[in-house]
Amino acid sequence: MEVFNSVRSLQKKITSYKKTNSIAFVPTMGALHKGHLSLIKKAQSENDLVVVSIFVNPTQFDNKEDLIKYPKTLEADLKLLKKVKCDMVFTPTVKEIYNEDVVSKHYKFDGLENEMEGKFREGHFNGVATIVQRLFEIVTPDKAYFGKKDFQQLQIIKKLVAIEKLPIKIVGCKIFREKDGLAMSSRNVRLSKQHRKSAPFIYKTLKKAKKKLQNKSIEEILHWVNKKFKKHPFLELEYFIIADEITLKDSIVKDDNLRGFIAVFAGEIRLIDNIKL
Ligand code: PAF
Repeated sequence: MEVFNSVRSLQKKITSYKKTNSIAFVPTMGALHKGHLSLIKKAQSENDLVVVSIFVNPTQFDNKEDLIKYPKTLEADLKLLKKVKCDMVFTPTVKEIYNEDVVSKHYKFDGLENEMEGKFREGHFNGVATIVQRLFEIVTPDKAYFGKKDFQQLQIIKKLVAIEKLPIKIVGCKIFREKDGLAMSSRNVRLSKQHRKSAPFIYKTLKKAKKKLQNKSIEEILHWVNKKFKKHPFLELEYFIIADEITLKDSIVKDDNLRGFIAVFAGEIRLIDNIKL
């Protein structure tokens, strides 16, 4: 496994490999867990070489405290990546990526950026798109892999690639869950014991909502989920919506393209999840 800190050294290597190999890319912010490893495994099965980036991107955090407290476990991450036979790891500094100007570009994604997370995390998707575009320019992958837990992010990155006409195939990968159903996330390690115990309630509720939707209206389901969380002593619902998978606009009409999207505070940790309905 080769580890690179500089853009120039990584690009030099990739240019030489690209002549005869397909390149897959898995961007991460580190604190790697089994969900990340499943993306890497899929990438390995479909490509000759896999590049993983580890970079906690400051411009996508709307909350300074969240950025400061974001788990940073570089040594353990590198060990794990070596174990799963990752080919190349890119671990740049903020300066290497942004130079002196640690700011986002401004994007429009046909309104995708204004729904759900866009309403609650100002500037988040400008930050995500800025870093993903920059990393795509550096790595020039044939395919890039993203988890469906961040479903809105995945749709926005597909749109980014279309708008910028980048020759990269975006692959969405299924949500990897703990045994009790909690969607894997680097933030899970920050949950208190009590909140970790409560957190599986989120996916349980999504699954029940899906079942109930068979014979109840969307409005009834929205009301039911809100009521369930109001009664919960440790979890606070930020939003639950049922929306179209492509436009991400909320809907009260049942069809085949719906997904339930949820954001919940477990203490100060914000968790998101979603389910195909
Ligand atoms: O999903 C993430 O971990 C991040 O948003 C990403 C795509 C690595 C960009 O910083």
